[in-house]
Amino acid sequence: MTDTCRNNRFWAIVPAAGVGKRMGVDVPKQYLQVLGKPVLQHTLERLLAIDVLAGVVVALGSEDGYWSDLPCATHPKIRVAPGGKERADSVLSALTSLENVAEPDDWVLVHDAARLCITISDVQKLIDRLRNDEVGGILALPVTDTLKGAEAGEIVETIDRSRIWRALTPQMFRFRMLKHALTDAAERKLIVTDEASALELRGLRPKIVEGRPDNIKITRPEDLPLAAFYLERQCYE
Ligand code: CTP
Ligand code: MG
Repeated sequence: MTDTCRNNRFWAIVPAAGVGKRMGVDVPKQYLQVLGKPVLQHTLERLLAIDVLAGVVVALGSEDGYWSDLPCATHPKIRVAPGGKERADSVLSALTSLENVAEPDDWVLVHDAARLCITISDVQKLIDRLRNDEVGGILALPVTDTLKGAEAGEIVETIDRSRIWRALTPQMFRFRMLKHALTDAAERKLIVTDEASALELRGLRPKIVEGRPDNIKITRPEDLPLAAFYLERQCYE
């Protein structure tokens, strides 16, 4: 490890500009209440507890009327950036807002606003495993179900699950490499639903770090009580 390596800083980006269509309610899911607090407040409190982070950029939707009511909104480590049409556009906008403060080799941890059950230990594990890596990587979960490929409602194959992982966040990459990869994907009009896929498109191989199964993403209404259950259990760990 070189000295430059050791001095690299860590930034977090939290894409929070989605509308939460699959949730089916008017309020974007990142502002729904879980155990008396908005989802995004939970998520940010957890990230802010990670001392090594130099700053957190939250990408917000242009119509967002809820952000300023969040207790975290005025935290000195937090800044905001305009969100974009797709998640990747929001992440790219947040990266661009860091242009004058982040060094090319600084690390950026991108974490979904909707993953409020993220634990400090998982983030720390990701950082510890990857901080000397060239490319970076992601938290992921091995699948436990048997997987089937189907066509027109009929099974055509059983997929070898030993090589299948579910991608979680945070996803941790170097500032310049991630910005290039996302810009390149946008220019080529390729849809990337996570940061790793943008790097994969450039022929790179992000690392997998096994994460905890309670790092769920709020997507549908039934995820809210499940998140509350996990958050309460984590308090007693
Ligand atoms: N996100 C974003 N900008 C977008 C779309 C999504 O910042 N244009 C954020 C969401 O706010 C969320 C994260 O990316 O924290 C993961 O996206 P997803 O779970 O798909 O959230 P939504 O797009 O809001 O939900 P849906 O797909 O059901 O509409
Ligand atoms: Mg979405």
